[in-house]
Amino acid sequence: MIKIGIVLGSTRPGRRGEQVARWVHERAADRAEVEFELIDLLDHPLPPLAEPPMANPGRFPDEHTERWAEAVGACDGFVFVTPEYNHSVSGALKTAFDHLHAEWAGKAAGFVSYGSAGGARAVEQLRLVCGALQLADVSPQVTLPLATEFENFTVFKPGEYQLAALDTLLDHVVAWSTALAPLRTGDAEAEIRAQMGLIIEGLRAKDLEVLKGIYAEDVVSFDVEPPLQHVGLDAKLANWAKVFTFFEKVDYELRDLTLTVRADLAVGHGFGRVSGILRDGTAVDGMWVRATFCFRKLGGAWKIVHDQASVPFDIATGRGVTDLRP
Ligand SMILES: Cc1cc2nc3c(=O)[nH]c(=O)nc-3n(C[C@H](O)[C@H](O)[C@H](O)COP(=O)(O)O)c2cc1C
Repeated sequence: MIKIGIVLGSTRPGRRGEQVARWVHERAADRAEVEFELIDLLDHPLPPLAEPPMANPGRFPDEHTERWAEAVGACDGFVFVTPEYNHSVSGALKTAFDHLHAEWAGKAAGFVSYGSAGGARAVEQLRLVCGALQLADVSPQVTLPLATEFENFTVFKPGEYQLAALDTLLDHVVAWSTALAPLRTGDAEAEIRAQMGLIIEGLRAKDLEVLKGIYAEDVVSFDVEPPLQHVGLDAKLANWAKVFTFFEKVDYELRDLTLTVRADLAVGHGFGRVSGILRDGTAVDGMWVRATFCFRKLGGAWKIVHDQASVPFDIATGRGVTDLRP
């Protein structure tokens, strides 16, 4: 199901924006087959920008940014409810855009603006920002001047005709968000392969911090070693840490990785082999295992939520067959 975030771009005490965002949300909620979520920037207070988001995709400098990435990453499109401040957008909304990068791309954006002059100039600026982020902006928009759509410039009382404009805007955002889905999964496969590259990088460097970024907090791993399952990130990392105690130098090969990606879920399989030099200087080739990976897009990044590694077993002896090669 397509999910559209209705982003309330004003955080000012006494803001008019809250009334407008609720009106959009209530109207949108009537639509079947589409989920709409009101995303209030007051719930996502962001510090001054610390790190360019494109420097380390999927890794965030603080908890606020990670939560924000999760909210944006979970959406397929957006309706931005924006005020106009000095012919532009609010600082809070611009900051919210700047904190993320990949999480915006390949999605649709529509605008509901309000202000003394209806907020039209703020939307013109937002369209430029969207262009930079590969957010596809739809043309229909809703423009709400304070003088005509707010009683005493205070209480939001939009004319009936505004509902028709809002419906058209929502039609377009939903249609574009749906149509752009292949673009989003196209990027996904490259992102997942990059994540898998981090496993190799992390193992070669014996760096648990790198490996930590690849797995979900609640990962369930059916690894080759007992116990039957390793539940949670700490257990999975402990398993890798154990490998580091045996090996002086570690290497990892991953072959024939095949991926199938849908929305925020992906499955993959391939062959993996850990090899290297043991503490006593012995070089070991290791064994090829069959590996299966399940990924979910969490907080804007693809994480392994489940993996399994196995070797076939010989029925006669009950032993694992460890010398097969792909
Ligand atoms: C600092 C500031 C600058 C503003 N500049 C403009 C402007 O350039 N054009 C306009 O049409 N309205 C402008 N307004 C009016 C706002 O659009 C209007 O107050 C709106 O309700 C602000 O949104 P909010 O109540 O959700 O914060 C400005 C308001 C403020 C506080």
